[in-house]
Amino acid sequence: MTAPKGYSARQIRLHWIVTALIILQFLLHEPMSEAWDMIEDGQGPGSDWLVMSHVIGGILVLIFALWRLALRATRGVPPPPDSEPPLLRRAAHLGYLALYALMIAMPLSGMAA
Ligand code: HEM
Repeated sequence: MTAPKGYSARQIRLHWIVTALIILQFLLHEPMSEAWDMIEDGQGPGSDWLVMSHVIGGILVLIFALWRLALRATRGVPPPPDSEPPLLRRAAHLGYLALYALMIAMPLSGMAA
């Protein structure tokens, strides 16, 4: 597969949607933490729409992250600039790996909870 020259419109859209969803997950974590405390105290989680937003937002992050991985595998991504030093290239690669691992592990651990 020859590497494309740039990211597709769909890849770019998915990138920003996932970014926005992850920011929202952190901004709106409080109701979910409170619901979790209530469950630990033996009460139900309640039915707050903000709690549901956390659940749905997190599941969407997982779906979109897997979609992005599928697009990487089928369409490919542009190569890093030739001028990029090998050490930075390696660091960027490890950074991407860590981000994808988190985008998959956080929703899964949340669902397990
Ligand atoms: C990328 C996706 C997600 C991110 C970034 C995220 C982020 C967070 C954050 C920042 C907290 C607060 C932790 C604390 O205050 O100590 C939290 C708590 C929680 N989240 Fe998520 N979350 C995600 C997905 C999910 C999903 C999909 C679910 C459930 C289906 C979920 C369920 C929970 C639960 C039950 C808690 C309370 C745990 C506790 O307070 O110890 N999360 N999440």
